[in-house]
Amino acid sequence: MNPKQLIKLLSLSTVILFAACAQTGSEIETRIDALLAQMTLEEKIGQMNQLSYDVSAGADLAQQIRIGRVGSLLNIVDPEALNELQRVAVEESRLGIPLVVGRDVIHGFRTIFPIPIGQAATFNPELIEQGAAIAAREARSAGVHWTFAPMLDISRDQRWGRLAEGFGEDPVLGAAMGSAMVRGYQGSSLADPGSIAACVKHFVAYGAAEGGRDYNSTNVPPHLMRNVYLVPFKAAIDAGAATLMTSFNENDGIPGTGNKALVRDMLRDEWGWDGMVVSDWASVTEMIAHGFAADPKEAAMKAANAGVDMEMVSGSYLEFLPELIKEGKISQEYIDNSVRNILRLKFRLGLFDNPYTDTSTPSPLYAPEHLEAARETATQSAVLLKNNGVLPLEGIRSLAVVGPMADAPHDQLGTWIFDGKKDRTITPLAALRDAYNGQINIIHESGVEYSRDRSTAGIASAVAAARRADVVVAFVGEESILSGEAHSLANPELQGAQKELIAQLAKTSKPLVIVVMAGRPLTVGDELAAADAMLYSFHPGTMGGPALVDLLFGAVSPSGRLPMTFAKEVGQIPIYYNHNNTGRPFQGTETMIDDIPREAGQTSLGNTSYYLDAGVESLFPFGYGLTYTTFEYSNLALSSEKIAMNGSLEVTATLTNTGKRQATEVVQLYIRDVAGSLTRPVKELKDFKRVTLAAGASTEVNFTLTTDQLAFYGLDMVRHAEPGEFRLWVGPDSAKGLETGFTLE
Ligand code: BGC
Repeated sequence: MNPKQLIKLLSLSTVILFAACAQTGSEIETRIDALLAQMTLEEKIGQMNQLSYDVSAGADLAQQIRIGRVGSLLNIVDPEALNELQRVAVEESRLGIPLVVGRDVIHGFRTIFPIPIGQAATFNPELIEQGAAIAAREARSAGVHWTFAPMLDISRDQRWGRLAEGFGEDPVLGAAMGSAMVRGYQGSSLADPGSIAACVKHFVAYGAAEGGRDYNSTNVPPHLMRNVYLVPFKAAIDAGAATLMTSFNENDGIPGTGNKALVRDMLRDEWGWDGMVVSDWASVTEMIAHGFAADPKEAAMKAANAGVDMEMVSGSYLEFLPELIKEGKISQEYIDNSVRNILRLKFRLGLFDNPYTDTSTPSPLYAPEHLEAARETATQSAVLLKNNGVLPLEGIRSLAVVGPMADAPHDQLGTWIFDGKKDRTITPLAALRDAYNGQINIIHESGVEYSRDRSTAGIASAVAAARRADVVVAFVGEESILSGEAHSLANPELQGAQKELIAQLAKTSKPLVIVVMAGRPLTVGDELAAADAMLYSFHPGTMGGPALVDLLFGAVSPSGRLPMTFAKEVGQIPIYYNHNNTGRPFQGTETMIDDIPREAGQTSLGNTSYYLDAGVESLFPFGYGLTYTTFEYSNLALSSEKIAMNGSLEVTATLTNTGKRQATEVVQLYIRDVAGSLTRPVKELKDFKRVTLAAGASTEVNFTLTTDQLAFYGLDMVRHAEPGEFRLWVGPDSAKGLETGFTLE
């Protein structure tokens, strides 16, 4: 037998072994019943308690586990220490129930992929699934059973720092990416050694924080909740997500962690979901600050009654659930159901049969194929926003590399990278030197040290470097700490002296390429005007450098598309493509501020909906992105002009690569429901496809549009499609495309 055959046989036998261990749902339920029957009330409540691992807790933590007061730990990533605590749980606690260990593995464990908003820009769910599977393999090897990801919060606000962690403004894109991540993390069985449980979060509407300020109140009404904010959650639950996290925000006066109507009534009773619900970090007792509970006891009561199974770190369940049950304020049945949900997760993960982390197998951390996948994802996630022909760089002899992000190994990893190592990051500068040393004179002058650096002292040297080079590439953007949880900005623009750096570089008249590496869509109108080309890379992770160099030099053509609208001005925010029309929509011929005659009459402007100073146009629409070729759309056709209820429609269009290079187009299908029982968005993405074409090649692109895709929760709060007229577009982004129409009968 040759080595390849041996490996095949070994992996096959691993699969068979695990298939043999994997249990059916009913076997698991029988084991849960048997265990539950033996548990005391204290042991049940202990399962509902999650603690954050603290190395200094030592013997005390072990004792808590031994007496059954801890069901889960988060933030322990030392497999040896975990195995010891697991041994205490399995061998020394009365019933031997294993611990389940959670961790924020958000965009990679050690091998860091682009931040999720960048992953969304790939419009490539298969790639995202592959990345999540890699993150799972690495994380489980370190003892992590469960990640607190994906974050499915729709965001329409570029100020909200946490949008970095989500998939942008569109529910259909969010649903596709979120389900792909769930499949990637969880694999075909949670009990496989390379799988971890996913946790969809934050339930719900957390991304609608007023003013984009993190943790702020939200006011999402029921129809919008169902038709937009809940869509990715429903899809990820249908994809098998094992757990869900409630949110910090209060919506319409009810904190996510105390929202019985959404958690118990909808998620459980209406959706029939049997996964496990965890609170966010101390979000149970934070209901006191919200003014929804007077004290920790009332907070525990409201969270448990709402259907939160496990409390993350704030300990009020442990302390108050026993007396709340005695007082009849929480039913025994609720407690039993929560414990069932927790035990079900542990059984599904195979922890009762296989509680320990195997430390003897070779480490998968930073495996070459993991790095390769991270590089591919970073490549596909970058969006070309402007190019007057300077890109791809060809035939240059010298290159000035400037800006604070050119060589920022920590910052290009992005937010939430607890386990990624900056010394494994390849920055653009390192990648350039690696690929072009000796061929191109690379002159590096950062000009501005870090993104918030206000000092202009280094700008003159950067300008001097630009003058000595054929082309200047400025890597600007945001340090990773400027986005993510609790990192919102009132002015999401380039910070520090970066704007000044760009302004001075532009004066040299050298071809100027700007690469933005950031955690969010920034308002970059001024920089765009100054640039000959702009490539936008949401923090691209470990392999960002080589990916960006490949794109700049044309080894690969850009294929990322914007998962969020870019605002021209911060005052336009919230700005998103799938908004409802007003009764007085902008016509495009309105008078702007400088053209208004003095003492003009009150009604002289036509009374439409726009800003006098900024209009309604975005800087770039959702779905936008250029590449190194041009694509033309033609022959849009529908299989019929009419579609029957429960039927479907075949949509075809011809796509032609009319340029000189092979490239990938993201073909996007949008519809508009012209009149409904509720007002409908002016456009809604319904499907998309990445299509790669050689120069000059042409292909037919097909979509099947079903009436289910046209359905929404209407006035009657029932999800169905409504008869009437629809418009349909197939095109390159949410603002352009060929248009036709059909009727739903
Ligand atoms: C965040 C969650 C995260 C949790 C655990 C909270 O602050 O909102 O998304 O999973 O901490 O680290």
